[in-house]
This record gives sequence, C-alpha cells and structure tokens, in this order.
Amino acid sequence: MTDVESFQHPRFAGVYMRLARIAVRHGAGAHRDRLLDGLIGRVIEVGAGPGTTFRHYPRTVCEVIAVEPEDTLRAQAEQTASEVPVAITVVAGHAGELPAANGSMDAAVTSLVLCSVPDPATALAQIARVLKPGGEFRFYEHVRSPRRVVGLAQDLIAPLWSHAAGGCHPNRDTAAAIRAAGFLIEELDRIPFGLTHVLGRARRPRTQSAGRDHHEEQCQGSASRCRRRGHGSSSDRPWSVGGPG
Ligand SMILES: C[S@@+](CC[C@H](N)C(=O)[O-])C[C@H]1O[C@@H](n2cnc3c(N)ncnc32)[C@H](O)[C@@H]1O
Repeated sequence: MTDVESFQHPRFAGVYMRLARIAVRHGAGAHRDRLLDGLIGRVIEVGAGPGTTFRHYPRTVCEVIAVEPEDTLRAQAEQTASEVPVAITVVAGHAGELPAANGSMDAAVTSLVLCSVPDPATALAQIARVLKPGGEFRFYEHVRSPRRVVGLAQDLIAPLWSHAAGGCHPNRDTAAAIRAAGFLIEELDRIPFGLTHVLGRARRPRTQSAGRDHHEEQCQGSASRCRRRGHGSSSDRPWSVGGPG
C-alpha cells in the first residue's frame, strides 16, 4: 500500500479548499479550461486536491486516474468526482510512486502540484514513465517570479511559506525542471495571477517507433476499457506500479 502519511496537512487542506473556490471566481477556472482543452483518452492527474479540475475535463477524456495523497482533500475529490460526467477514479498515492503501469496513459496533468512535491525530478520521471511515448503532459503551476527582487523575496520566505502552505515552494523554476526531465515543451504561457504561473503543454519524446499512435484509436480503446470497468470505482485497481521505464 502506498504510504501517504507524510502528506497529511488537514488544516492547510481546509484553507486551500476555500482559496481554490475564490481563485475560480477570479479566473482560475478559465486557466483550467485551457489546461485541459483538447485532451483525449486515459489521463492521470497527479495531486488532484479537492478535484478543482474535474469539472473542466472535456468529454473526449474517457477515464481519469486522480492521485491525491492528502486524506481531507481526497475525500472531497471523491465527492466532486461523483458529480461530473467524466469517469474519474480517485486514488490514494503520491508523485514519487504513481499507481499506473509504464506507458499506460495518453496524458498527464498537474495543477499547482510541482511546487509541493518533495522532489520535482522524481515526480517528473514518474510522469514520463506512465505516459505513452509521445504522450502529453499538461501543467499549470506557479513559479519563481522573473522579477529579480520578487524572486529573491520568494527565496527568503520559502522555508516559512513551505511550513504554512502544506510543503509548497514559491520559488521553483518548474519549466526548467520539465525540460531537464526530458520533456519537449510545445507551448508555455506565463500568467501573472497573484504569483507568476506557467500554463503549458509538453510531450514525452517518442523513443520507440513501434506501435500505433492514432489518437482516435487510443481513445476508442480506452473508452471500451472504461465501459467494462464502470464509473469511478476506487476499490477496483486494474493497474500495477512499474519501475522507472
Ligand atoms: C495547492 S494544492 C493543488 C490541488 C489541485 N491540483 C488544484 O489545482 O486545486 C497541491 C496538491 O498537491 C498535493 N501533493 C503534495 N505533494 C504531493 C505529492 N508528492 N504527490 C502528489 N500530490 C501531492 C497536495 O496534497 C495537494 O492536493
């Protein structure tokens, strides 16, 4: 069983759920629409929180595995998953050991998560592992400010901030970490939204030429698996955790 003990922040979880609702009213919902626009097939969302993105998945996504380590947030995510049309299975787990087989996902999503994981390089290696070759990684993350003084201030307050905000680091260069993990960034927007945010699309390189890569076929294949499996059962886990691929 995946150990999620060290990721429990119930007080921060309560505060975050309120903040997330306020942020949606001020435009974060539109950012999440853009984050998920055009996705198809099987998707893994890492650090789903209370399910803030769930209402924004397009109908072309036939299955979402939503991984969330924090108990309070995961309970809310399960509730949110039951209210949306896309089939979402909420799973206890963390980015250091994603509960999905190698090369099993058409896309992976993070939304305000890579600031909080203990080791972004390990998380990104896990995301690359579970993606199919050529699979898409969509990210919406807040990052260190490009303004020198603000960036330095973020460096200074990082330890205190991290303590108060569930392990969040305000000063990470997440786009650089994504490139360093071997992803090809195809689109990257910087959005000033309180903190500086990056919204982008990256791709796991096609390291193997064998195998079909026709999106429609992938989605249809995934859709029939979704139908066989039913909607949102977190007790039925048909995947295995593979080693780094
Ligand atoms: C700021 S919240 C964002 C939640 C949600 N993705 C959203 O956009 O509202 C950060 C989330 O990352 C999760 N998290 C922290 N460390 C994690 C890890 N190592 N693996 C997966 N999720 C993690 C937290 O539990 C929390 O749900």
